[in-house]
Amino acid sequence: MALKLNPLPFQSQKSLSFGLPPMTTIRSPRVFMASTLRSGSKEVENLKKPFTPPREVHVQVTHSMPPQKIEIFKSLEDWAEQNILIHLKPVEKCWQPQDFLPDPASDGFEEQVKELRERAKELPDDYFVCLVGDMVTEEALPTYQTMLNTLDGVRDETGASLTSWAVWTRAWTAEENRHGDLLNKYLYLSGRVDMRQIEKTIQYLIGSGMDPRTENSPYLGFIYTSFQERATFISHGNTARQAKEHGDLNLAQICGTIASDEKRHETAYTKIVEKLFEIDPDGTVVSFADMMRKKISMPAHLMYDGRDDNLFENFSAVAQRLGVYTAKDYADILEFLVGRWKVENLTGLSGEGRKAQDYVCGLAPRIRKLEERAAGRAKQGPVIPFSWIFDRQVQL
Ligand SMILES: [Fe+2]
Ligand SMILES: [Fe+2]
Repeated sequence: MALKLNPLPFQSQKSLSFGLPPMTTIRSPRVFMASTLRSGSKEVENLKKPFTPPREVHVQVTHSMPPQKIEIFKSLEDWAEQNILIHLKPVEKCWQPQDFLPDPASDGFEEQVKELRERAKELPDDYFVCLVGDMVTEEALPTYQTMLNTLDGVRDETGASLTSWAVWTRAWTAEENRHGDLLNKYLYLSGRVDMRQIEKTIQYLIGSGMDPRTENSPYLGFIYTSFQERATFISHGNTARQAKEHGDLNLAQICGTIASDEKRHETAYTKIVEKLFEIDPDGTVVSFADMMRKKISMPAHLMYDGRDDNLFENFSAVAQRLGVYTAKDYADILEFLVGRWKVENLTGLSGEGRKAQDYVCGLAPRIRKLEERAAGRAKQGPVIPFSWIFDRQVQL
């Protein structure tokens, strides 16, 4: 295992995931300094930097999977072709963003845009904060394709590799690309949000990358994506439900359609991990526990808009309060995966494997208990401005 230590000193402890115990992070001193400045001067400060350094990264561990295990993934090529690629949809049968948006080539375009904007007026600001956060997350897709291509044994070695794993990753990316496109175009037409601030956030986020701590291991990587696809399925499902409650059926359909893609992707990724449990139960359960101990960070956890140093935490707080994505969802996803992979029934494990099994099987109730206690103590959050909605104030 190659362990590369970031030379920066430990400077802050902060929780990135919904009231869960804090994780130790390393913060760039330059950004740490910037966080002491007021937001106005921070933007001026940022102008002087040629690019923004990574805002927050852990100790970087690489290639932690023993090299001989790469063979497992090579031997699963045919299996993946028959069992995973079937979860992709042919392009000709796929929905496209244009199916849900006013047609700019039609005579009724202006009227359709007017109707879309009338409906958008009924949606509250805090709802838009959640929708923008979801859209920004989707728009950082280059980072997620990069992340998949860090994984040993399954990466696309050429950019057009014909292995099942590479075919999956490219087609998955192509399907996902419609999500950010659709939400971006919808939000642009809605007239409710500051597109320039949102576009800056996307540029900052793609420049910062992500730190999922998957260590080039497809075990860790596919556990991470299983969790994430379900998390996005839940959050897009909740924005769909809430759009419907606010009377916007068109937006409900947009979010619901994206959610159904996420569900299909979840099915594929959980199937890969199910197969790994079958072939290598010990290695897989240890990886599952490792990933959960490190906590599943959200893909957009490094988001920044040039002003708010706690943008991700603030967006997450609004999503939590609105019930778009909550700490309870985190525990529910974990419990779902434990059941989906029948972790409780695993037998013949090593000592380390049994410890990992006990850990993941007991974790969801522990997270729930911690969360209930934290919720009991929590006071009402402050009201803060979000640049995404022209600095209008939203309750955290
Ligand atoms: Fe997506
Ligand atoms: Fe997804």
